[in-house]
Formats: sequence, C-alpha cells, structure tokens
Amino acid sequence: MPNHQPIKLDYRHFACEGKHISRHPQFEETAKKITNLQQLLLTGDDPMIKDKEVVMTGWKTESPYVADTALEEIQATAKNFASQIDDFVSIGIGGSYLGVQATIEAVKGSLSIINLLPRTKPRVFFLGNHMDPNYTVRVMEILQRSSSVGVNVISKSGGTVEPAIAFAIIERMMERKFPKNSAEKIIVTTDKDKGALKKLANEKGYKTYVVPDNVGGRYSVTCPVGLFGLAVAGIDLKEFIAGTRFAEEQTRNNPFEKNAALLRAVMRFIAYDSWQKKIEVAATGNFNLKMVTSWMQQLGPETEGKDGKGLWISPEFYTQDAHANGQMIQEGERNMIETFLMVEKPGDDLIITAKDTPVDYLDGQKLSFVNQAFVEGLRDAHYHGGVPCMSLILPKLDAFTIGQLYQLEMNTIALGGLLLGVNPFIQPGVQQYKAVANAKSGKPGTEKELAEMEKIEKALSQEFVV
Ligand code: PA5
Repeated sequence: MPNHQPIKLDYRHFACEGKHISRHPQFEETAKKITNLQQLLLTGDDPMIKDKEVVMTGWKTESPYVADTALEEIQATAKNFASQIDDFVSIGIGGSYLGVQATIEAVKGSLSIINLLPRTKPRVFFLGNHMDPNYTVRVMEILQRSSSVGVNVISKSGGTVEPAIAFAIIERMMERKFPKNSAEKIIVTTDKDKGALKKLANEKGYKTYVVPDNVGGRYSVTCPVGLFGLAVAGIDLKEFIAGTRFAEEQTRNNPFEKNAALLRAVMRFIAYDSWQKKIEVAATGNFNLKMVTSWMQQLGPETEGKDGKGLWISPEFYTQDAHANGQMIQEGERNMIETFLMVEKPGDDLIITAKDTPVDYLDGQKLSFVNQAFVEGLRDAHYHGGVPCMSLILPKLDAFTIGQLYQLEMNTIALGGLLLGVNPFIQPGVQQYKAVANAKSGKPGTEKELAEMEKIEKALSQEFVV
C-alpha cells in the first residue's frame, strides 16, 4: 500500500504590517461566508456557478469519484497505445494543455530533460498551445524521423484555432507517414456530440474520449482531458484520482481551521480586498513543479479576472528568478503575496563534493538540503520585506500528491472567484480574444467584425509610429 500523506498548509508568515491574517477583522466573517459558498458548489443551481445552463462543478462532484472501471479502461488503452509508439504528441491549449504537461513533469521530471534520456518511451511533445512556426518546424523535424507517432488532440469546443491548425498539420503528416494505420494512432478528446473535432472524429473513425459538459478547460486535468495523456506517460490514474478524492473529502469535511483550501481562499481574498495585494507570486524551487506554477497561472486569472477584479499570478522559479524578480519581491511595490510549493522528499538527490572550493563549507551536504535552505531563506527574507507568505508543503512528488494539490487548488480558486463575486466558470474575455483573432486571421463570417476593427485601427494616428 502506498504511504499517502496530506499536503500541509503553513501560513505562519501570512501577515501584513506585523498583523497575522488570523487577527484580521474580516477573517471570521469570511470563514463563515466561505462555508456557505462551499455548499453552493456542492449542491447549488445558481447562475454564479453556471456556464449557460450547465452547473460547472463536475470537477468537484464527479471527477474525484469516477468509477475504477473507467480509469482501468483509459489506463489499459493508453498502455497499449504507448507500447506501439516512440513519440507522443499532445495537442491542445489552455486547460486542454497545461495540466497534462504540468502533471507529467511533476511526477516524471521535466520533459526538456527526460525526452533526451534513451529510456524514455514514448517521448512527449506538445503542439497547438501556441503558433510559433520555428518551434512547430523543430517538432515536425523530430516527428518526421520517428518510427512511430501517437497523437491525442484535445479541445472541448473543437473549434479553437491554435490546436485546430496543429492537428491539421499533424494529421496530414500522419496520413503521409503511416498510410495504413494513421487512424489507430490518433485519439480525440472533445465534446460528446458537438463541434468540428467531434465531426472529424466520426468521419475518420478516431477513438474519442469525452470532455464532460460540466467541466471547464482549466478544471479538466482530472477528467479524460488530462487522464489519457498522463496514462500514456505511465502515470498511475487510480493513485492520481485517489489524491483528488482525498483532497476533496478534506475540503468538504475538515473544520475551517484545518481546511487548507478554505483557509487559502479566505487569506487570498482578504489580502486582495483589504490589504490591497494584487499579485500572487506562485513560487517553487523544484524544477519538476515549474509547470504546475504555470497551471496555477492559468487557473487563477482565467477564473477570477472579471469585472475589473482578481489576483494576477506570477510564477517564479527559485533560485533562478531570485536573481531577477527577487529584487522586486523583496523591495518593490508592496502589492503582492507569495505562495510557495515546497516538497519534503523531492526524490533524487546528490551529495555535493566541494573540498577546497569557495563552497567548501557545503562539502558532503545534500543538494536538496541547500536548495531547501535557499527557498526557505527567500520566504523568510520576503516575509521580513513585507510580503505575506504561505507554503503548500507536498510530502513528495507522486501521482497521489499532485492529484491532491490540483483538487485543493481548484477548490481554493473556485471559492476565491465566488468570494470576489464573479462566476468562476466562464471566460468571456477569452471568447472575446478568440473572436478578434478569428476576424484578423480571415475566418469566413467575421467580415463585419473585421471592418469594424479596421475602422478603429485607421482612426489611430500614424504620428505615434516612429
Ligand atoms: O479554461 C478554459 O476554458 C480555456 O483555457 C480552454 O481550456 C482553452 O481556451 C481551450 O479551449 P478548447 O478546449 O475548447 O479548445
């Protein structure tokens, strides 16, 4: 039996101008409020938690409780799929991308490194999360040389341009390279019956996984959106989901003073609302967790950033960024809080051999010890510099713990949105960007929008282009 341990929340350093958050006059009142909001997420049927007519809480009420048989099916299909390929391409953007990379890297190691190891099979690549041609050409170069490629294209709407372009390119390549069986190597994750991707999958006979109606992109890593890719990379899905269930139960049942998700949501809210903090630095010294801080960067702002409100999330990787943004965090404008992701047993380690060097005093010491000391040092320094700091302490980097972290954080952020008075599960701003970009790139049917935009552009004075 794996030894499962909870993630701890350490908020001893969450104070502003010498006052700990627990003594803030809003603390108790917000704690009461959040207990009701948690109930709303569990049983509510309110416009605040709906996208159109759908209550968007499947990530909380269903994903952690998915049947073992469903996980076994995905795990077995993915294992068989992975055994037949050397290279795997996951295509998607936003919520249909970040969780997959973040989880694989957290549990297995950074893909920029592990893809180089001969033992890694399949290697994992991502496309469709941007449209940079140089990057796309390099990945294509790798795939052209590969003897067997597998693809998972993920898009809930089935119409997002970036993954649609990447998939169009890769699908052609697959058809040319593997004319006999390309369809067997393509898995589509999309809506159960709507959208262009679903139509294409039906026409070509691709195997599909369904994105549930009641799960939005940034809350989807714990449903088939994330699960298939994780299983291809060899991550144990039952352990991962057991972690989400564990955190969900803790969020539902722990009293407020022992409830990491609720406490974190209340602290972030008070810091924003009363202490005028506008940025949450999401920091880690563990390279494996770098992408998890990017996942946090997506989850928070896309959830909270509405009606002129919301905390900006700034991922920082230490100690690298201590030599850059570190100056601003220490002494710049006091408008930020900081959340550290720390790991008790980070995994592989090595002993420093440094006799007669400038770091002689560290000879024989573990590298993890020094890394931890530096990250804790940064936390202490930032706290003394006036930054309210809290830490999520992960016992280790495994599927159970990462599942736990996601569920805790999705609860924190969804509740944070509700505390701010915004609907956490819509993203009208992203839809707006998609509409403008579609018109600019000549999508048929957007001529009126394009003409309108051109009028606005023309009205801008040329005098300001120098
Ligand atoms: O959280 C979200 O809703 C977004 O980040 C989406 O995941 C992203 O825009 C991709 O959308 P889709 O899966 O429809 O291609």
